[in-house]
Amino acid sequence: QAGEWAYTEKLKEHFMSPKNILQGENTDEFDGVGMEGNLQCGDQMMVVIKVDKDKEVITDCQWKTYGCASAIASTSILSEMVKGRTLDDAFNISPKEVAMELGGLPDHKIHCSVLGDKALRAAINDYYSRNDMQDKVKQAQV
Ligand code: FES
Ligand code: FES
Repeated sequence: QAGEWAYTEKLKEHFMSPKNILQGENTDEFDGVGMEGNLQCGDQMMVVIKVDKDKEVITDCQWKTYGCASAIASTSILSEMVKGRTLDDAFNISPKEVAMELGGLPDHKIHCSVLGDKALRAAINDYYSRNDMQDKVKQAQV
């Protein structure tokens, strides 16, 4: 409809003030780095994580992207959702869950929300590879 936003308040909130943006280019202090590109639009995403190695729990998650409003809002909320979760649990967060947290996404924008969680999975797999846990490297089911 003319003059109406297709986005929820929650999405707008996260787009206007995104949480956990990675500052600068240096990712050395992080335990896992994931990059992902979006085939449908060419946008890119980087997600980095810090991990409590004893508990295998994510203690910090930051990101940056050249993606659109939906990608920004989805990844912002995802970066909040994963803190305190185990690697396994975080790996299994689905794009649907993220969209639900945002109060819904327009259908044609789902591929944008996938960008953040693909990059998160890549970061988790990167953590496993770096720590000699190749056997734990997984493919996403989604
Ligand atoms: Fe490219 Fe949304 S259109 S990430
Ligand atoms: Fe630019 Fe999605 S491709 S806004």
